[in-house]
Amino acid sequence: MYLQVTIVLIFLVLLSITVSFPTGCWQRTPAKTVCDFRYWSPPLLDSQYKIGPYQVEVKKLSGNFSSQAFIGLMGDRATSSAFILLDCDQSDVSLPANTFTSNLNWVRSLYLNKCYIRNGIAAGTLSFLIGLTSLQVTNGIFGPMNAYSLSGLMNLTNVFIQAEFLEKTFPAGLFTKLTAVTNITIQTSSLTSIPPGAFDGLTSLTSIDLSGNLLMSLPVGTFDNLVSLMRLTLDGNNWKCGCHFTWLSTWLVYSGVTATMTCSSPVAYKGFALNRAIAELGCTTSTSSPKIRSRIIAVLINSIPFIISIFKAVIIDAIILTEVLIYLFNRARVHLSFDELS
Ligand SMILES: *[C@@H]1O[C@H](CO)[C@@H](O)[C@H](O)[C@H]1NC(C)=O
Ligand SMILES: *[C@@H]1O[C@H](CO)[C@@H](O)[C@H](O)[C@H]1NC(C)=O
Ligand SMILES: *[C@@H]1O[C@H](CO)[C@@H](O)[C@H](O)[C@H]1NC(C)=O
Repeated sequence: MYLQVTIVLIFLVLLSITVSFPTGCWQRTPAKTVCDFRYWSPPLLDSQYKIGPYQVEVKKLSGNFSSQAFIGLMGDRATSSAFILLDCDQSDVSLPANTFTSNLNWVRSLYLNKCYIRNGIAAGTLSFLIGLTSLQVTNGIFGPMNAYSLSGLMNLTNVFIQAEFLEKTFPAGLFTKLTAVTNITIQTSSLTSIPPGAFDGLTSLTSIDLSGNLLMSLPVGTFDNLVSLMRLTLDGNNWKCGCHFTWLSTWLVYSGVTATMTCSSPVAYKGFALNRAIAELGCTTSTSSPKIRSRIIAVLINSIPFIISIFKAVIIDAIILTEVLIYLFNRARVHLSFDELS
């Protein structure tokens, strides 16, 4: 009996030794592991842990990140709180195109903190993170971005970016492939311009926050066709208010979107809300812009069934009324005839 227990114990001790825990890493909770990039040798493997982690933090990341660093993590027990966090401590970092491998479909959030990615993010680098719902970049630097830097993220709903864009803008297609996205924030990111069509086709988008950038103007129709948009946060930029913004002022009235936007220049209108500046400038409201015209036509087309139903109701009421009148008339006639008879 004692012998059997001893054998089992020895077996368990041997088993725990053969699980070779990765150097430079800790296990914070059964779900979470933290690795110090300076001492860690990637890749991470489920077999290095008793239970494969699904919350992974890499600290002190700098220089070239390793290819396929997470290739052994299968996320068998992953929940909606699964994440990968890369913390670069204000170091320059390059992410190879195969940083994130196809086994990572369980990752829900990707956090990049203080990462100076001066080479930018190459096309498709994130495309295997197909289960990603949230991308959060804080205190970072982004070099050149590609129209396909965020491609493949079909389930991404929340994009939060606080990173200096070295190119002061981003390519037109960067966000337009994120068909599920509901919230886009690009705050204090040194943007001086937004490309035309930056948010085209994002019909689930409810909120855009571009506050704290260096924007003076926006391409005409930037927010057209965003049928779900409810909130637009544009404060803290260098908006130059003038009649070139009449389209936005008109669009805000038609769309009912709540927006915060105050003018920085010209001096006479500094601190004014856009709509007030446009009104005081006496800009002629133009509904001749094709986008606005198509919106009005769309509203009319949408209301055709309503107009038809009112029309129908009126006709039916008229028929009923006529029948009632005829009935009353006939009754009156019958009464009259009776009166004549008596
Ligand atoms: C990163 O890799 C590139 C080549 O891909 C190399 O030129 C560069 O020196 C590497 N940087 C560091 C910090 O190792
Ligand atoms: C993407 O979202 C849909 C709907 O919420 C879900 O059914 C699907 O499993 C998600 N895809 C991944 C890879 O998580
Ligand atoms: C997304 O935007 C909506 C609408 O403005 C807001 O209510 C919600 O809190 C936002 N969600 C996130 C995660 O920022």
